[in-house]
Amino acid sequence: MAGTKSPEDAYTAAPFVPEGADLSALRDAAAGCHGCPLHRDTTQTVFGAGDPDARVMLVGEQPGDQEDRQGKPFVGPAGKVLDRALDEAGIDPDETYITNAVKHFKFTHVPERGKRRIHKPPSLRELSACGPWLEAELELIEPEVVVALGATAGKALLGSSFRVTKQRGTRLEGAPSGPAHGALIVPTIHPSAVLRADDREAVYGGLVADLRVVVEALG
Ligand code: URA
Repeated sequence: MAGTKSPEDAYTAAPFVPEGADLSALRDAAAGCHGCPLHRDTTQTVFGAGDPDARVMLVGEQPGDQEDRQGKPFVGPAGKVLDRALDEAGIDPDETYITNAVKHFKFTHVPERGKRRIHKPPSLRELSACGPWLEAELELIEPEVVVALGATAGKALLGSSFRVTKQRGTRLEGAPSGPAHGALIVPTIHPSAVLRADDREAVYGGLVADLRVVVEALG
């Protein structure tokens, strides 16, 4: 029925985000976030990590199985691809700050895969519910360039009309009132796309080429 609100409309992390908090207080508060139901089945919140003075902030989709277990972003197979690509493009991974648009692992089980937790993309509402954490991180890190890793991160930073295939590898101005507060946004593919591709080398090469746009933008 038009105009009827579903319970998902009420999802938001906003009441859990402390005002004026530094990064460590933010991380502690995020550990107790119940802004949407995703926290229920996960091991823990996976908050951002890395250099608080980073010029480059990378935003992924959501933690995966390994990240959920270890409590750190991009420590699994996609993170290894990303670190290699950053390094090859001329960006020191240790000088970046890395986080996800959604801070809890969303997964499902399929009978033929036993106990394995299978990644499920977050809904737009879950993405928007988690937005206050990403905005708070962006406000504190104040990066010069934000790298959107894949479609979900792009939508979180640039809105739901974002299309990674059309906009990857370009420099986009984040709206001053948007989540990136006017920082330059460079979208690229999600590094897990390399792992899924038939032609891994070509797809990996595209990721490195997009990351070189970041290096050029930094000057
Ligand atoms: N994929 C993501 O988007 N983020 C992670 O932290 C790991 C895999």
